[in-house]
Amino acid sequence: MKLFKKNMQLVLVFFLVFALNDNVCYASAVEEKLLSNILKDYNRKARPVQKETDVVDILMDIALPQLMKVDEKEEVITTNVWVRQYWNDPRFSWNKTEYEEISQIIINQRKLGYRTLFY
Ligand SMILES: *[C@@H]1O[C@H](CO)[C@@H](O)[C@H](O)[C@H]1NC(C)=O
Repeated sequence: MKLFKKNMQLVLVFFLVFALNDNVCYASAVEEKLLSNILKDYNRKARPVQKETDVVDILMDIALPQLMKVDEKEEVITTNVWVRQYWNDPRFSWNKTEYEEISQIIINQRKLGYRTLFY
């Protein structure tokens, strides 16, 4: 994607992690420091942009992790469906040389206070 190629020195993270539980252990002090620095001024109500005129591209997909029941007679299929949404949040960027080359972290969606945008 075009957005990923911008600014090779900085790393953008933009994850929505749906099923991760809260008891995540961060592997190192530097990762803790990184997390605390990027969340320090984070405001979940602000749009994830650097300039006011920037547009937020949201990619959506649907995953079908589980087929629960097929009722041939009634012609009904019961499934579990995940609606996943992806976007870049430039506020979650850092210079990886300052954080022992960490280029990616996973943040629990609940920690960020995101809700699902649409269905
Ligand atoms: C990243 O940090 C290193 C070390 O502080 C610095 O030399 C480099 O210029 C920084 N890169 C960017 C893109 O800010």
